[in-house]
Amino acid sequence: MCTFVLSKKIMDKNPNRYTITAALPYTNGPVHIGHLAGVYVPADIYARYQRLQNKDVAFICGSDEHGVAITLKAKKEGITPQEVVDKYHSIIKKSFEDFGISFDNYSRTSAEIHHKTASEFFKKMHDAGQFIEEVTEQLFDEETNQFLADRFVVGTCPKCGHEEAYGDQCENCGTSLNATDLINPRSVISGKKPVLKETKHWFLPLDRYEDFLREWILVDHKKDWKTNVVGQCKSWLDDGLRPRAVTRDLDWGIPVPVEGAEGKVLYVWFDAPIGYISSTKEWAERESKKWEDYWKDENTKLLHFIGKDNIVFHCIIFPAMLKAEGSYILPDNVPANEFLNLEGNKISTSKNWAVWLHEYLEDFPDQQDVLRYALTANAPETKDNDFTWADFQARNNSELVAIFGNFINRVMVLTDKYYEGIVPKPATFSEIDEQVLSELNAYPAVIASSLERYRFREAQAELMNVARLGNKYLADEEPWKTIKTDEERTKTVMYVALQIASALAVLCEPFLPFTSEKLKQMLGHAELSEPLSWNGVSSKSELLKPDHKINKAELLFSKIEDEQIQKQLDKLQTSKKMNEIANKKVTPQKETIQYDDFAKLDMRVGTIIEAEKMPKADKLLVLKVDTGIDVRTIVSGIAESFKAEEIIGKKVTVLVNLAPRALRGVESQGMILMTENAEGKLVFVNPGEEGIDNGATIN
Ligand code: 2FM
Ligand code: ZN
Repeated sequence: MCTFVLSKKIMDKNPNRYTITAALPYTNGPVHIGHLAGVYVPADIYARYQRLQNKDVAFICGSDEHGVAITLKAKKEGITPQEVVDKYHSIIKKSFEDFGISFDNYSRTSAEIHHKTASEFFKKMHDAGQFIEEVTEQLFDEETNQFLADRFVVGTCPKCGHEEAYGDQCENCGTSLNATDLINPRSVISGKKPVLKETKHWFLPLDRYEDFLREWILVDHKKDWKTNVVGQCKSWLDDGLRPRAVTRDLDWGIPVPVEGAEGKVLYVWFDAPIGYISSTKEWAERESKKWEDYWKDENTKLLHFIGKDNIVFHCIIFPAMLKAEGSYILPDNVPANEFLNLEGNKISTSKNWAVWLHEYLEDFPDQQDVLRYALTANAPETKDNDFTWADFQARNNSELVAIFGNFINRVMVLTDKYYEGIVPKPATFSEIDEQVLSELNAYPAVIASSLERYRFREAQAELMNVARLGNKYLADEEPWKTIKTDEERTKTVMYVALQIASALAVLCEPFLPFTSEKLKQMLGHAELSEPLSWNGVSSKSELLKPDHKINKAELLFSKIEDEQIQKQLDKLQTSKKMNEIANKKVTPQKETIQYDDFAKLDMRVGTIIEAEKMPKADKLLVLKVDTGIDVRTIVSGIAESFKAEEIIGKKVTVLVNLAPRALRGVESQGMILMTENAEGKLVFVNPGEEGIDNGATIN
């Protein structure tokens, strides 16, 4: 167990109100484990923990429904963008609910309240002269008659040379790009090379905020923000900030609410973070609260949970917008995570290399907490991490079942057996009992200290140490033995064990909410005169009083079998195969020819009857081939793939009327047809069927 003193800065700001946002997921696909580990599970742990501290929490999210990716998906599927976002909004919203992500509000950016909020935000900045209006040359697809921004255009990244970089970002090196930065750009819609065409846009002059951002991030938050976050911001700031267009020529999005902007919409990254504000408004209206308290009161702590690809938007662009607008607070922290990989490979929606949340919930019903636990245990907090199904199984079987579940089960079963489910009255505490109880009392602060510093893995590991403490205590004190010899001692031991079980029920709530609920039910927490709080675990010496009745035991966790894991691995194998097929590079078909062109080729079945290496030539074999017409010499460039002796007797296909040509002084009188197998190895094109004589024609 480690102790930690909160830094002065964090201590200074100890507000009662928290606005906690989790990145709005794009509605062009369902949510996967990468999103969960990076953003939603840590955000949920944090929100639940602060609620347990009796803080006033607004945990806010919603669907990000604008942007080019959605338009592209709609085009691909032959449906409207609205149909795309409706479909995924429902899937995502439901899977979050089923998974126990405890948002206070889950909205969507197509909602009217959001359009209104984002328009007003833009208008206020516009009217205060916060934008630069400029006509610039942008990429234009003449075939489809539209401007190409962001994901509508791909080309070569000017930084790393990756040939499939998008107009807004290169996914290979992470560089944020403008479409016009791409080398050899091509339209994603028509495949054609775009031309440059003039168009007017509104730019946010980020350069005006550089000094403020430098001071705010690199000085004020240098110590309390994660090093990966400060590092990325520093590199942006050191590169120098430039004005950034916040409008686009598109027909899907929020119309730019000023004159002269017909046919233009707000850039998705301008409207999306405002979605946090509109979602808060929607919630506040429903709950009769004042939304401004959560966004405009200096005492409110604003936190953005995001993945590392969103750092620039939440630490530089959105704060610059908030600062420019003038009436908002700035984020107190942006605890961005790195990425989670899956079985050694990058998670990819397009390659279906993912564990989708809605599918997990179907395959592992009522096992939400197992995934939450495995993802937190492996959270990519300081570096990219890997999720494997084997680790998932081990985390469940060797930790949740064998440590947590085992302790609770022993406490429940023994209390039921010895005392018919009634908490016994302890006798005098031994030194060990006192020590265990005081150690238990210290855990809320220990776990809290890790959570306050966004160290969720560490916090969860400490939680498991509470279960370990319980297991060790029972193993050392052996109530199953003392029951035969010392009734009073057994009562004391079971009393202490029940206190540990009760503490676990409270402390596990942020991490394992379903388990916490079940365990509280089993321990009869609802019947307590006042509910147990987080801090109650540290200050109360007695969590369950003698004579309190506990309920029947239920199984908290069950073993995950090898077959269940194999089924998941098979699913991934199928994705891999499908990708291999889809990605196979096939040589493009040649120009169409007439039958007469084909008829000129005289191809025969033949047999190699002799083969030897051409002296002083690494690649060439000199073959004698029985073509059925004659036995002739053919020089073939296959020496790097075949040894001479292994091909004697091989049936092959020979182009016999190819004009002879001399190779290293040997006249070659034809050509053997070859192809490549799936591994890229050269193989003979042979007739396959048995009983075909040399000389048989191929037509
Ligand atoms: O990267 C993403 O998935 C974005 N849709 C996140 C948006 S966060 C916020 F700004 F809305
Ligand atoms: Zn790149």
